[in-house]
Amino acid sequence: MKYDFDTVTDRRGTSSSKWDVAEGELPMTIADMDFKTCPEIVAALRERLDKGIFGYTDVPERWRDAAVSWWDRRYGLKMEKEWLVFSTGVVPTISCAVRKLTTPGEKVMVMTPVYNIFFNSILNNGRSPLACPLSYFSGGYGIDWTRAEECLSDPQVSLMILCNPHNPVGRVWEREELQRIAELCLKYGVAVLSDEIHCDLTDPGVKYTPFLSVSEESRKVGIMAAAPTKTFGIPGLQTSFAAAADPVLRHRIWRQLNTDECGEPGVFAAEAAVAAWEKGEGWLEEARQRLQRNKARVRSFVEERLGDIRVPYGPATYLLWLDVSAVSPDERRLAAFIRRETGLCLTPGRVYGQGGEGFLRMNTACPEKLLEDGLGRFEKGVRAFRARKE
Ligand SMILES: Cc1ncc(COP(=O)(O)O)c(C=O)c1O
Repeated sequence: MKYDFDTVTDRRGTSSSKWDVAEGELPMTIADMDFKTCPEIVAALRERLDKGIFGYTDVPERWRDAAVSWWDRRYGLKMEKEWLVFSTGVVPTISCAVRKLTTPGEKVMVMTPVYNIFFNSILNNGRSPLACPLSYFSGGYGIDWTRAEECLSDPQVSLMILCNPHNPVGRVWEREELQRIAELCLKYGVAVLSDEIHCDLTDPGVKYTPFLSVSEESRKVGIMAAAPTKTFGIPGLQTSFAAAADPVLRHRIWRQLNTDECGEPGVFAAEAAVAAWEKGEGWLEEARQRLQRNKARVRSFVEERLGDIRVPYGPATYLLWLDVSAVSPDERRLAAFIRRETGLCLTPGRVYGQGGEGFLRMNTACPEKLLEDGLGRFEKGVRAFRARKE
């Protein structure tokens, strides 16, 4: 490998949200990588840093070119440059969509278990989440279409937040599934905010499908929110965008992002994004291989040593979704026990809403040394939990 995915960097003392844990604890929690980012991004930032002046910054034309080209050459999505609106984050875009496209008291549909912050964006704005739980069958996840139509046809539902690919279960939604969502949403007058922040992080050989690429219907109802941040491990740089083909939806999201002051980049935001999209492909391909290897390692470890824990198949994200229901139906107790006994921090599934009970989420985006440390702690914790029960 040309790039370094092995160095363990001490992130303590850097105000890292992930590493704000007690001495000796190992966080495999929030979706933040422990790899050093792509050196081509660091070089671009260093060049900008060396100017030594950090004034107000606009989004350069190169940023639009780089984003359009990335989605076209990697995923076949043909965006017009004017579809793009800069945003400081995907979550700010989601909250803006909730505020602009729905009214207080209305419902927003989400397919659970799903990225927990969706609930914050909905609830903090006085709207209510309407759960459409995914169906869980023999190791995988699918959409419950009867329930989905029931939710979307509710006249109080004006927005659906889609997670494409889906955190935490790792599903890459198929073109046909996305087309069906778009058709239903158009039929019932529901807008779709498609959160595609995990889009680049699929197993090698697996491609995600952009929601806006699937049909005319999807372009009428959809706003895509995406970023280079999850892909390249740079979420602290706060750089993302919203994209909409429909001019009315685009105007609305642009207005709200600006009203809420989330539409202006910091000095490094566009620099990092342009470097990532123009020069980051080599690093990304190696990162995807490493993540696939890490996920395979966890799977085989769990299978060999902790047989009754199942790991549903999900070819996207570096987050593994562990079915620990056979160890304990209350995964919160198990997670708290493992943390107390071994210092390993994992996320209890029910924070992701209905269907998360009995699961733990494990972030595997780390050097091998940390991964092995985490697996050792996990086995020790699970065994001690079982021994305590028996
Ligand atoms: C599905 C999903 N959306 C959004 C985010 C965060 O986006 P941002 O940091 O751009 O607000 C995350 C981070 O884990 C995520 O998993």
